[in-house]
Amino acid sequence: MDHQVRDILTRIGGLDGCVTEFVRVTDQVLPYKVFLRYAPELENNCLTPNGVPVKLQLLGGKPEPMAINAIEAVAAGAQALDLNFGCPAKTVNKNDGGACLLRQPDRVYAIVKAVRDAIPTHIPVSAKIRLGFEDRSSYLENAQAVEAAGASELVVHARSKADGYKPPAYWEYIADIRNAISTPVVANGEIWSLADYYRCREQSGCEDIMLGRGLLACPDLARQIKADIAGEEYRPLTWDEICQMLFNYYQQTLPRYVEKNCGNRVKQWLMYLRRQYPQAEIFFERIKRAREPAAIELAFREALGDYARVEG
Ligand SMILES: Cc1cc2nc3c(=O)[nH]c(=O)nc-3n(C[C@H](O)[C@H](O)[C@H](O)COP(=O)(O)O)c2cc1C
Repeated sequence: MDHQVRDILTRIGGLDGCVTEFVRVTDQVLPYKVFLRYAPELENNCLTPNGVPVKLQLLGGKPEPMAINAIEAVAAGAQALDLNFGCPAKTVNKNDGGACLLRQPDRVYAIVKAVRDAIPTHIPVSAKIRLGFEDRSSYLENAQAVEAAGASELVVHARSKADGYKPPAYWEYIADIRNAISTPVVANGEIWSLADYYRCREQSGCEDIMLGRGLLACPDLARQIKADIAGEEYRPLTWDEICQMLFNYYQQTLPRYVEKNCGNRVKQWLMYLRRQYPQAEIFFERIKRAREPAAIELAFREALGDYARVEG
């Protein structure tokens, strides 16, 4: 997710940290402006405007360029790095990055170690893995490789690359990993609701979880989870509140896109929101062919006006 989405979601609350989209590392030394594009928070002490820490994620298959760019990232202001060994995208895997590295745990080790050794010890280096590439068989070796290389935390997306994003997530494998290593483990994958959170926690044994699509579908999911754990009353966000938030996001991101793409980010987000909010589906249908800012803005104003009247 981009920095504007991180800003919105961290304002809603319940999140202890966020990670940028991956910065692709090849043989080049990346300039400051690339790191800044992925993480404008670098200029705010690596915090979202609301004060939530942001890790910068790197993805690449070669230890030396990863180490060199890790040094650059730290020079650019990064205060924590995450290394991506989970991306299933064909173009990424074809170029020797992401989940394909899970086929060779020794390479995972070499990359994490090179980055860990290259930057000051007070900067945490974490890694994100899936359970394997073709199947779910290399998870223990890879988790052990990450630990042996000195990572401070391991995030496990509980599926193989071959599993893609298809439910279920195999949270019980994470429990095996937790038994095999002492590095803190964060569970990830297929947590869409409070009930999923509790099931994941029970099956994985993890206290800490990472939310992906579930947070886009239900922007206050982390808040709901935290409130439930604390035994506090919490009223989930209404569609009206979500729609207003989406309108703000639309207005903020408008200057970044050529006119015909102006609603694309909002449309993408609605695809997730419709899982949780039936009104998101209706709104998506209303704007899906709209290409002009005036049409999208009108749709927002009508939607917000309508709901305001219903509430009133
Ligand atoms: C469109 C999209 C982009 C993603 N980009 C990244 C990424 O840049 N880095 C990363 O570690 N994971 C990325 N992920 C994976 C998520 O972080 C997460 O591991 C995965 O979606 C499973 O969790 P979920 O079921 O909560 O979504 C991406 C997922 C999607 C759907």
